[in-house]
Amino acid sequence: MRITINRKIDTPVYIQIFEQVRQLILSGELLPGFRLPPERKLAESLGVNRSTVLNAYRELKADGLIESHVGQGTIVLSCLQEDLTAAGSSLQEPFWNQIFSQYSNGFDSLIVQDLLTLANRKDVISFATGMASPETGPIEALEGIEQELVEKRNYRALLHSPTEGFTSLREAIRGLMQKRGVYCQFDEVMLLSGSQQGIDLATRIFLDPGDVVVVEEPSFFPAIQAFKAIGAKVIGIPIDEAGMRVDILEQLLQRYRLKLIYTIPTFQNPSGTEMELKRRKRLVELAYKYRVLILEDDAYGDLCYDGQPPPTLKSMDIEGYVIYLSTFSKIVYSGLRLGWMVAHKKIVKRFAASKQIMDLHSGSLSQWIIDKFITNGGLARHIPKVCREYMVKRDAMYEALSKYAPKGLIWNRPGGGYYIWCKLPEKVSAAKLVSKAAERKVVFVPGTPFFTTDRGDDFIRLNFTFAALKDIEEGVKRLCEAMKEVIDDNDDSECYTALEMNPVV
Ligand SMILES: Cc1ncc(COP(=O)(O)O)c(C=O)c1O
Repeated sequence: MRITINRKIDTPVYIQIFEQVRQLILSGELLPGFRLPPERKLAESLGVNRSTVLNAYRELKADGLIESHVGQGTIVLSCLQEDLTAAGSSLQEPFWNQIFSQYSNGFDSLIVQDLLTLANRKDVISFATGMASPETGPIEALEGIEQELVEKRNYRALLHSPTEGFTSLREAIRGLMQKRGVYCQFDEVMLLSGSQQGIDLATRIFLDPGDVVVVEEPSFFPAIQAFKAIGAKVIGIPIDEAGMRVDILEQLLQRYRLKLIYTIPTFQNPSGTEMELKRRKRLVELAYKYRVLILEDDAYGDLCYDGQPPPTLKSMDIEGYVIYLSTFSKIVYSGLRLGWMVAHKKIVKRFAASKQIMDLHSGSLSQWIIDKFITNGGLARHIPKVCREYMVKRDAMYEALSKYAPKGLIWNRPGGGYYIWCKLPEKVSAAKLVSKAAERKVVFVPGTPFFTTDRGDDFIRLNFTFAALKDIEEGVKRLCEAMKEVIDDNDDSECYTALEMNPVV
């Protein structure tokens, strides 16, 4: 029972206690039969006189909310619907405070949800969403669908499919994996409802509360949230321009029994970095030495704009320690909700058992569309086109930043993927910049959610794929103006403080 006393307001202290306890009873947080603390004890803990608590309890009794009995103490009474309605409460409303699980209390991505809602407005230039450009997507992949479905009565695309996915698609993905250096069996491949589902399944399958998971710092925030929500201890390993600092990881491995290493080695979200080959090899060696699984998230591996990225971790793994995730969201359409995993058969079996409870299987229609798109050669033709278009957008954003950035802003030029990662000028807070930029109708994601602790307010992530090419320069210009305004505000407030501290004599 949490009660706070505010001595700066006019409301008498006993009324403050009365109102807060009353609210706790009416909201259902204190259930009928709950024993309130004895008056003396509550008075001591709040630092007030016993008579103050006595008066508060008297008011609660007068309202019929509690009663006292010698030897039993003071007990919360059950409230009738009429009493609650008269008291301004309603039994229709569930008792929210008691209803949500500890697990779901771990989700706190409201800022990002708000930004994504804002990003969908037509008059806003969005650098926030990690989405493919709608125009770049291969709309032709959908050609002939209606005819095939309706005229040819293709029921297969509309009925249940196996939990692991259609066999033909698993075979087709086996072919895609060969281009990524991975020679797997078809039963080591499983379809997912987006690769994010793979992170969630891995969390449920491998982690218990208290287990230790390592992620790059910064990292994909839904992964950090999923690990934390299950009660795992999440440790961030810093990255530099060559990816995760595996030397620091090794020190951790010597101290902790790690359960899982989550990494996005290629065109990382949010930093755009690529892990160099030497570190990739070392990472796999460490996984073997310390017998820790690696969850390799390769959402952006195909989106390479300069040269070739180093091989996937999965292609270096002969022992089955790497669980590989990828997705069609970033190159085809995210709304199809289709991703896949490649892992040891034992792991695929466990994932399938868990997926069966979650959603039975990934959408049959999406699987059917993608299957056709791969086997008719559409995907292979589409990837170079996407890369060309996104490279132009990356360069447009990079150049606009060079043109408009205020002094002190630092940004990178990723070799692929979706994001430019920026370090803000000194004293510019990303949280403050969000609202200044929103006033100018441009949105981005502040750095904080990508960190495992409260850090990150000096970083922002800019997505360059979603906005139309013609809007990128204008969006960057507005964003940089917003930064300059935050810098000027800071300078003004410093000036004000200095005057207060040094009055003119
Ligand atoms: C690193 C990473 N993994 C996974 C996902 C989720 O992809 P999907 O749409 O397949 O769930 C994203 C999307 O932003 C991502 O950036």
